[in-house]
Amino acid sequence: MISRTHDVMSIGKVNNLHNHSIMSFLESLKFEPACLLDLDVIDHLEQTSYHPDEAATREKLKNRIEYAAHSGPELFLVAKDKETIVGFVCTTLSRSDLLTEESMDVHDPEGKTVCLHSVCVAPEYRKRGVATHLLNTWIGILRHHNELQTPKKYERVAILSRPNLLSLYGSVGFKNLGKSEVVHGPEPWYDCILEL
Ligand SMILES: CC(C)(COP(=O)(O)OP(=O)(O)OC[C@H]1O[C@@H](n2cnc3c(N)ncnc32)[C@H](O)[C@@H]1OP(=O)(O)O)[C@@H](O)C(=O)NCCC(=O)NCCS
Repeated sequence: MISRTHDVMSIGKVNNLHNHSIMSFLESLKFEPACLLDLDVIDHLEQTSYHPDEAATREKLKNRIEYAAHSGPELFLVAKDKETIVGFVCTTLSRSDLLTEESMDVHDPEGKTVCLHSVCVAPEYRKRGVATHLLNTWIGILRHHNELQTPKKYERVAILSRPNLLSLYGSVGFKNLGKSEVVHGPEPWYDCILEL
């Protein structure tokens, strides 16, 4: 008969092994600037991850890849598991402190607010820490760019969050500033800001 203490120790070992394999999986992910060759996969992820009213069109995604190519490749990053794109972050720049509806269509290369429009992870890769790791790595890259120039290139990241994702953004350092003026769909949006 296996003792209860032994059971608890075995569960601890299995959890450690599980945590270890998740950590090494996350460490093996590569982060690269998105390019137009990635557009089909990015568009597929966007259209299948968001409600049709909320998903950016293929044209907007294409524009954002091109804006990033001109203003800073770090503004549109893909996460890859070997050669498979498993997630991405995409943005535009704005002079407004908060994310506005206008920033979804317009990119202002002189803007210092990074408007984060989409954080997206492929369904089969979710709940393994990919979004958290992608966000932490990406924020580190933005801060690194700030250290390279004076005055700094980016002041803050702004995002509109649904209530269920506030804890995800809070866990990587975003502050919740309360309900946004942007109204879209049945649930409220919250303005969240991360100073860089
Ligand atoms: C939201 C999304 C990016 C999260 O990706 P992920 O890789 O599964 O996130 P993580 O594994 O890093 O999870 C981070 C935390 O957020 C929580 N979380 C993730 N998705 C969630 C959801 N849909 N609702 C509530 N909490 C969620 C996780 O439980 C985890 O919390 P924990 O640390 O307490 O366990 C992913 O579900 C997705 O692509 N959704 C569709 C697109 C979308 O809604 N993007 C966000 C709006 S821009």
